[in-house]
Amino acid sequence: MCGIVGYVGSRSALDVVMAGLKRLEYRGYDSAGVAVPADGGLAAAKKAGKLLNLEKELTERPLPAGTTGIGHTRWATHGAPTDDNAHPHLDNAGRVAVVHNGIIENFAVLRAELAERGHELLSETDTEVVAHLLAEEFSVTADLAEAMRLVCRRLEGAFTLVAVHADEPGVVVGARRNSPLVVGVGEGEAFLASDVAAFIAHTRSAIELGQDQVVELRRDGVTVTGFDGSVADVRSYHVDWDAAAAEKGGHDYFMLKEIAEQPKAVADTLLGRVDASGALTLDEVRIPAAELREVDKVVIVACGTAFHAGLIAKYAVEHWARIPCEVEPASEFRYRDPILGSRSLVIAVSQSGETMDTLMALRHAREQGSKVLAICNTNGSTIPRESDAVLYTHAGPEVAVASTKAFLTQLVACYLVALYLAQVRGAKWADEIRAVVRDLARMPGEVERVLETMEPVRELARSLAGKDTVLFLGRHVGHPVALEGALKLKELAYMHAEGFAAGELKHGPIALVEEDLPVVVVVPSPRGRSVLHDKIVSNIQEIRARGARTIVIAEEGDETVAPYADHLVRVPVTPVLLQPLVATVPLQVFACELATARGNEVDQPRNLAKSVTVE
Ligand code: F6R
Repeated sequence: MCGIVGYVGSRSALDVVMAGLKRLEYRGYDSAGVAVPADGGLAAAKKAGKLLNLEKELTERPLPAGTTGIGHTRWATHGAPTDDNAHPHLDNAGRVAVVHNGIIENFAVLRAELAERGHELLSETDTEVVAHLLAEEFSVTADLAEAMRLVCRRLEGAFTLVAVHADEPGVVVGARRNSPLVVGVGEGEAFLASDVAAFIAHTRSAIELGQDQVVELRRDGVTVTGFDGSVADVRSYHVDWDAAAAEKGGHDYFMLKEIAEQPKAVADTLLGRVDASGALTLDEVRIPAAELREVDKVVIVACGTAFHAGLIAKYAVEHWARIPCEVEPASEFRYRDPILGSRSLVIAVSQSGETMDTLMALRHAREQGSKVLAICNTNGSTIPRESDAVLYTHAGPEVAVASTKAFLTQLVACYLVALYLAQVRGAKWADEIRAVVRDLARMPGEVERVLETMEPVRELARSLAGKDTVLFLGRHVGHPVALEGALKLKELAYMHAEGFAAGELKHGPIALVEEDLPVVVVVPSPRGRSVLHDKIVSNIQEIRARGARTIVIAEEGDETVAPYADHLVRVPVTPVLLQPLVATVPLQVFACELATARGNEVDQPRNLAKSVTVE
């Protein structure tokens, strides 16, 4: 949610910043802007719309060259996506420029105070107050880092701020509270960004910035302090992605690349989780086995697609580990005063590790004395840092806004945690656990097989491009899969799409069914609880009798559903609980192709951003 880049070094700052912004455009694309201290002054350009508009502006009206610069790509919160509201924001003298991600909650009060002191604010944003406050403090301290510390102490809310000043042309200053910011350290140069993807082409040496810290970047070094001025410990790490992993790799869209990468992402997430005896060894889970044996309730908090992974995890936790499990959208969690204690294990699932709703839910859980385990894809991000333990998924960078490979790896991580709980509590025999681990190890190959048979799904999607509504039905773990299929279609194809538990249909939603309405049905394996399979076959008959066009996702060899399917999509035979790993893939392909057929932007759907760092 908003992408920020800062650079100081010896290259053209504009080139580095614009390339970085391109990598961060997934975080927001309502407007973009840059600022460069040069020739004793400060030059800035900003434009509403995508980065392309800013590129055009810079070609038509080039900025002076400089080796220090900042840039921003925006997902609008306060104020419409206009040129005026685009970042950077400058003070009235045009000497300081600031970019911001997050929300400054007390901006109205600060704005009124500034107006009283004669400042003229030109935009509707909360950010602009920071530029004016920095200018005031700098006029006293003549030190941008100190000015930033003083200003940050007066701000409420969540923010990442990055600023430059015309009087300190070799300095970039950043600050963070509840919002992401990473530092990249190169030879005679340094970078700041919301995400390492922005500077990975230049350096893989990164520094985590802690909560309430200010960083000062110069060509010859990086200094980190607390908002109170105390010198902070610097924790650096090596980024194990490379630049190629963040490129499209020959695919038209990042989403297609990421769908294709799923077999590897699943395999990588399984790597190194089992010891020679076949027992699970989740090294990163630092919660002692004795404490896990005491857990009396598991609560999963997550948002969107990650929430759907949590819904599936509930079946695994309850079935394998025999622990009651609740799943809740993180945005609702803390507001209902949930009953938590030291024996509750809270699992926070997040691809980005920066989703504000999930972060706030985990903080609430820790305040109640619960242990929090994060399942996360982004090393060094806030959610794992603030959790008691973390299990990383190894999906690699996910750039497309719609989550695909992260979802499959979240499922794998959830299965591993459920099995691990079963292992430490003795809820399953060692050979039963080994059998599930063997099944999981087969999954990358099975996902690959699904991907090889997707052409009919693409063809079907294209033929439905003119439809207004698609319904999705499922039972058991197929229900969250149906929810995920509907979410993908909504966010990518902008169509009315809803997922239902198939048994709920007759309690109301069946009234929606009319002639030729496409209904996707995720059919549970006939080898599981056969009653479930039989029931869903009846559900398919009920909707077909009312004119629905049925698109049935069923296991290879399941012949009983064939007579009721207008379109039959086969998925490999898997154990019942693992079916979401294969059944979700056709729904991702379906949504991606339908969106393309409708002329939509697949990687950057309207109104969305990849990482939602506001509540
Ligand atoms: C949908 C999607 C979102 C995210 C949600 C949580 O395709 O990507 O629903 O799943 O915003 O994001 P993370 O996992 O980063 O916490």
